[in-house]
Amino acid sequence: MKSDQPDGAPTTAPLSGISIVGTGSAVPKRLVTNTDLEEIMDTSDEWIIKRTGIRERHVHDREAGETTSTMATEAAQRAIKAAGMTASDLDMVICGTMTPDMPTPSAACIIADKLGAGQIAAFDLNAACSGFVYALNAAHALMVGGPYRSCLVIGADSVTRYCDFSTFGRAVAVLFGDGAGACVLQQTDDTAKGLITQYMHSDGGGAKHLYIPTRKGDFYDQAEFDERQVSHILMHGPGVFKFAVSTFPKLIAQTLDSAGLNPEDIDHYICHQSNARILAAARDRFGLPEEKLYVNIDRFGNTVGASIPLILDEQTRAGAVKPGQKVMFLAFGAGLTWASSLWQF
Ligand code: COA
Repeated sequence: MKSDQPDGAPTTAPLSGISIVGTGSAVPKRLVTNTDLEEIMDTSDEWIIKRTGIRERHVHDREAGETTSTMATEAAQRAIKAAGMTASDLDMVICGTMTPDMPTPSAACIIADKLGAGQIAAFDLNAACSGFVYALNAAHALMVGGPYRSCLVIGADSVTRYCDFSTFGRAVAVLFGDGAGACVLQQTDDTAKGLITQYMHSDGGGAKHLYIPTRKGDFYDQAEFDERQVSHILMHGPGVFKFAVSTFPKLIAQTLDSAGLNPEDIDHYICHQSNARILAAARDRFGLPEEKLYVNIDRFGNTVGASIPLILDEQTRAGAVKPGQKVMFLAFGAGLTWASSLWQF
């Protein structure tokens, strides 16, 4: 339902006052270009750019000690510094990740400890590529309903450890990269700021299109079992593409309708980076100019939970995201999951 406000009129209802006061990001040192991939598998720079828009990605070196929590801690330190705070000011850490360093403890517990944040609430949230948006929404709800005044929200993944960098795994391996992004949410007295609306969805019936089998019994289709596929991402690319292309516009429309806003009222659409063609389709559908729906997949690939906070940090540091603007975060991923979060900055 649209509001009866004139187009572009600011939302007047008081908001929570919760504000994103600092951002940070970190990627591994090792840069892998499409040309590098040509040397280890049967692929080409031309194929990858044409189908995905990706030119290069950062890949972590586990042997050198790079993990989800090391990247996330670096990103978090930058976000805390940008917020003008110290780790001891935090009340909670939520890390959206599907690749914690190990099954337990959570990456969030490790990160909170590395930061020196004290004995605060810390937990991971697994919604795959939607992890950061789910975490943002969860953090806002816990801050509104609980005693938490400052919360660190992270999206971090070292997904390339589940990629097979051989010709057998090329359809998946060329798509992904590693990284981490973080932001600090703080309760303020300014009720012109805060979350305007949010949606979170899932469809486990679509899990079979994108998952990581860890043994033969995990294969949704037993005929697909192949030892080389165990502990590697199994993706039906065209199925996921179709899901994403159809879901993205519906999610944008649902979020705009709930806020009573029009597409042009939003200053930034910060979208999960999975494929440049999917993002271009969403831009065309809503007539959005390029600067409103920024794309950086060419430099990072699909970094799963990190992709949205990586953009948020880039755009914030470039001075593109300004106080008073409306920012919509949008993601979709394995699960299947999809989610939005619309903020008044
Ligand atoms: N290099 C060269 N050729 C490749 C290749 C690679 N890295 N990967 C696959 N191919 C080949 C295939 O083997 C196939 O060859 P064939 O026609 O001889 O069988 C051909 O390229 C076309 O493969 P197809 O899978 O049909 O390509 P596509 O146009 O569907 O593009 C994706 C593949 C993965 C880029 C596309 O499906 C996609 O982006 N899907 C969504 C993925 C996604 O967003 N995942 C994350 C969700 S969060």
